[in-house]
Formats: sequence, C-alpha cells, structure tokens
Amino acid sequence: MKYKLLGRSGLKVSELCLGTMGFGTDNGWGADKDTSFAIMEEFANAGGNFFDTANVYQKGTSERLIGDFISQQDRDFFVLATKYTLKDNQTNPNASGNNRKNMMRSVEESLKRLKTDFIDVLYLHIWDDITPIDEVLRGLDDLIRHGKVNYAAISDTPAWVVSKGNTLAELMGWSQFIALQVEYSLIQRTPERELIPMAKHYGMTVTPWAPLGGGALTGKYLRGEQGRVKAESNRRNENAEKITRTVMSIADELGVTAGNVALQWMRQKGFSCIPIVGATKIDQLKENLKTVDIALTDAQMQQLDEASNIPLGFPGDFFKEDAVKLNSFGGFYDRVEKRK
Ligand SMILES: NC(=O)c1ccc[n+]([C@@H]2O[C@H](COP(=O)([O-])OP(=O)(O)OC[C@H]3O[C@@H](n4cnc5c(N)ncnc54)[C@H](OP(=O)(O)O)[C@@H]3O)[C@@H](O)[C@H]2O)c1
Repeated sequence: MKYKLLGRSGLKVSELCLGTMGFGTDNGWGADKDTSFAIMEEFANAGGNFFDTANVYQKGTSERLIGDFISQQDRDFFVLATKYTLKDNQTNPNASGNNRKNMMRSVEESLKRLKTDFIDVLYLHIWDDITPIDEVLRGLDDLIRHGKVNYAAISDTPAWVVSKGNTLAELMGWSQFIALQVEYSLIQRTPERELIPMAKHYGMTVTPWAPLGGGALTGKYLRGEQGRVKAESNRRNENAEKITRTVMSIADELGVTAGNVALQWMRQKGFSCIPIVGATKIDQLKENLKTVDIALTDAQMQQLDEASNIPLGFPGDFFKEDAVKLNSFGGFYDRVEKRK
C-alpha cells in the first residue's frame, strides 16, 4: 500500500480507507467480532492505516471493535476517522445534529468506545441545515486545540456550505476541512456537478462512500450471489446493471475483479481520491486490496465514463459543452491552458 497526503495537510493515509459500517451485527447485518478483527488485521498487514467509522455504526459496536483492536496494536500507526451528528441512543434534543453541544458530547462518547484519547479525523456526518457553519468550525477548532481531534473533515453537505466554511476558517485562522466524504461511484456521479470541483479548489481529498454501490458494482447480483442491496433499488436498476456489465467486461479484459475496476476508475479521475471500501468477509477485502496494483487504459476510462455518463445540469452543461458559446467569449478559450 502506498500513502497519500490527506487534503491540504501533512497527514499520511493509506491509498485505500477501510469502511467499518459493517463491523458488528447490531443492525441485523454485518461481520461478527472475529471476522471484523480478521479484516482489520489483513488491512493493517497490507500497510493500511486509515479506518472510517461513525458514532452510530452498528449502534456503537463498530467503534468498540476498532477500539478493542487498536488497543492491542500501535495506536499511533493508525489514522482513525469517526463522525458526529446522528443520534446515538439518547433522548435529549441535543443528542443529534451539528450543534456544538452534540459535537462535544459525541466526541467524548466516541473516545470511550474507541479506547483512545484522540481522534485523528473528525467528520461532520450529515448537514442538519440548522446549525451555523461558523459554530461547527469553531467547535472543531477547539477540539483540535484541546488535542482531542487532529483534523476536521465533512461529509454529506452541500458544496456551498463547505465552501463558506473553509473560506471562513482560512480568514479566522481555524483548521479547515481537509477531506470531503460523499457517495460517489460509477452509479452515483452527481458529486461531479458541484462537490468534487469544490474539493479540488480547496485541495480537499474526496473520500467516496459506497464506491462499489454497496457491492452492486462487483457484479455479484448479476451472478446470482447474495448481499444486502435490494433488487430494483437505484444500485440495481436497469441503468446500474448496464454500467455494471461494462465494468465486468473490462475486468475480464484485465483478468481482475469488477470491484477492482470500479475502485480504480475513481482513483484515476484526476482528483485526490481515497475510496472507503467496505467488506463484511475477509475474502472481499483480499480481493479489493488488489486494486492498488491495477491500471486502466485511457480507452477503458473513456468506456466507463461513457457508460455511466450523467448530464451536469445547469450551469455545468451551459458553460462546459457549448463550443459555439465558447467562441462567443472571443475565440481564444480553446487555446488557453487550463489550471490543473
Ligand atoms: N458518510 C456517510 O454518509 C456514509 C454512508 C455509508 C457508508 N459510509 C462509509 O463508507 C464505507 C463503505 O460504504 P459501503 O459499505 O456502503 O460501500 P461499498 O464499499 O460500496 O460496499 C461494501 C459492500 O459491498 C460488498 N462487497 C465488498 N467487496 C466485495 C467483493 N469483493 N465481492 C463481493 N461483494 C463485495 C459487501 O456487501 P455484503 O455485505 O452485502 O456482502 C460490502 O459490505 C462504510 O463502511 C462507511 O465507513 C459513509
């Protein structure tokens, strides 16, 4: 495994992140303790140091299992990312949301479950559309100053909110968000409209969740295998199946798995990207880890892009696609080298 810098920071994280939402069986699915430990061990032995969890995963069991595992290991090797926002078994009105009170309470609970005295990366989990973004950033910055958290990051939030937050933080000398977690895959490309260009602008690393469409892009359902993605959902509808077939045929060409192709596609898209790969079985992880050894040709990238293409919508399509319109800027734009 190679390491990458996480966003505009000096933090080195493995080029794949381990998704741990399925560690524990409290929600009626997932991996038991032994399997979760085997998965963490395999990932760490391959050089993986970057774990993704959240206060609510499997009712706290995911954090607890990670805590049990790292207390038998060198804590400092690992980069633990967790999240706050979602209600974790409390009844008070501030036990959820992006507010400062919940942030502080949730972090204390996560530290206990993780059996550590610091979190490496704390994500805001989902935008609550209520809390002012300056309250969030100031709270995160205080946690960082107190040494409870090392870096701030954000997930599932509109681009304009993240953008305002990072600009404010820069002006105020607060820690900025260094990573952006969003659902992104060959069957969910809408973050290309606003979120990914925004992340590139701020030098944030994108950490896609459900990069395999919950498993659909491995082709398992087309082969008649079982899993937790429901039939006819947007990950298994006609369009998703068409995309998955393209992924499978490129995988056959390369002699690798469809999952490898789906993960590698986003790693070659031209922005800083560390997929958060979930696994509930050790063999799934072993297969997925092979992704770091493959490369897609330009022609294969184009084939995947075309099979999964979505309209950018307004204003993306309006200013990107119309060559005639570009000429109406004066005819020079096709000769200007664009900023990378
Ligand atoms: N920020 C957020 O809102 C958010 C939301 C969701 C997830 N996440 C994070 O992102 C991580 C990944 O999400 P995800 O688990 O939905 O994404 P995913 O990586 O797209 O899907 C993982 C699932 O795919 C199947 N799978 C994986 N490798 C396979 C293989 N080689 N062959 C066959 N099936 C395979 C397994 O499903 P089965 O268990 O059905 O076999 C596994 O649980 C989570 O663990 C979590 O850390 C964040």
